[in-house]
Amino acid sequence: MFFWLIYRIYLTKVGKWRHDSELGRVKAPGRDGKETIHPHCKYEKTDSVPEYFFMDNKYQVIPVPFLDDNFAYIVVHVESKQYVLVDPADFDTVQAALEHYELSPATNAPRAILTTHKHWDHAGHNDRFVAAYPGIKIIGGPGENTLAVTKEVQDNEVVTELLDGGISIKVIHTPCHTGHHVMFLATAGEDQFMFTGDCIFQSGVGMFFEGTATQMHAILKRVTNEVSHSTSLFFGHDYGFKNICWA
Ligand SMILES: [Fe+2]
Repeated sequence: MFFWLIYRIYLTKVGKWRHDSELGRVKAPGRDGKETIHPHCKYEKTDSVPEYFFMDNKYQVIPVPFLDDNFAYIVVHVESKQYVLVDPADFDTVQAALEHYELSPATNAPRAILTTHKHWDHAGHNDRFVAAYPGIKIIGGPGENTLAVTKEVQDNEVVTELLDGGISIKVIHTPCHTGHHVMFLATAGEDQFMFTGDCIFQSGVGMFFEGTATQMHAILKRVTNEVSHSTSLFFGHDYGFKNICWA
């Protein structure tokens, strides 16, 4: 009962305030007496995170770590420099990453934001992107009530017009962690990349905040059947070590 009360409070603006407080804490210089990983507005890749992955030799997928274990992603069409963002819940760090990769956020706006679910550490800065890029398309799950979403997408819907080069992005509705969480399966040529948000992690799955084990079992069965085993998975958090320790 107490847990659900805390969770309900987290979903309000109190949770958004806490998200911003956490970003400030993680970025504060001298945290734990060590060098900070992500100092104010300055993007630095960590040793454990590859700089980017290639998809169909046309696109780069760039992980952007923030907070203690979150990942946002930038998907770039290399030739045109068009890009979309996935779960960019730390505006300053993502902007710094865009500058680092010479994507010039001041003159080259994101084509869209893909939001896997409403939790603040995934959607909490959508409003800042709207303020910076008026009219930006923000895509989220149906009925998820994601902050600033402009286009709700349905299960199996395929989005094709976001980037040049023929990439398509299929929506996979995965209710369990939240009521209308979605994953995004990107296909370009022979390559498939899937952005799993907080549904699937390395060696584990997301907490069942608004769903059941039966729903998660159905999701895993569907993914096993529908998604190629060669698909690269991009998680919303780096929980691999914790999950393996727990197992
Ligand atoms: Fe979440």
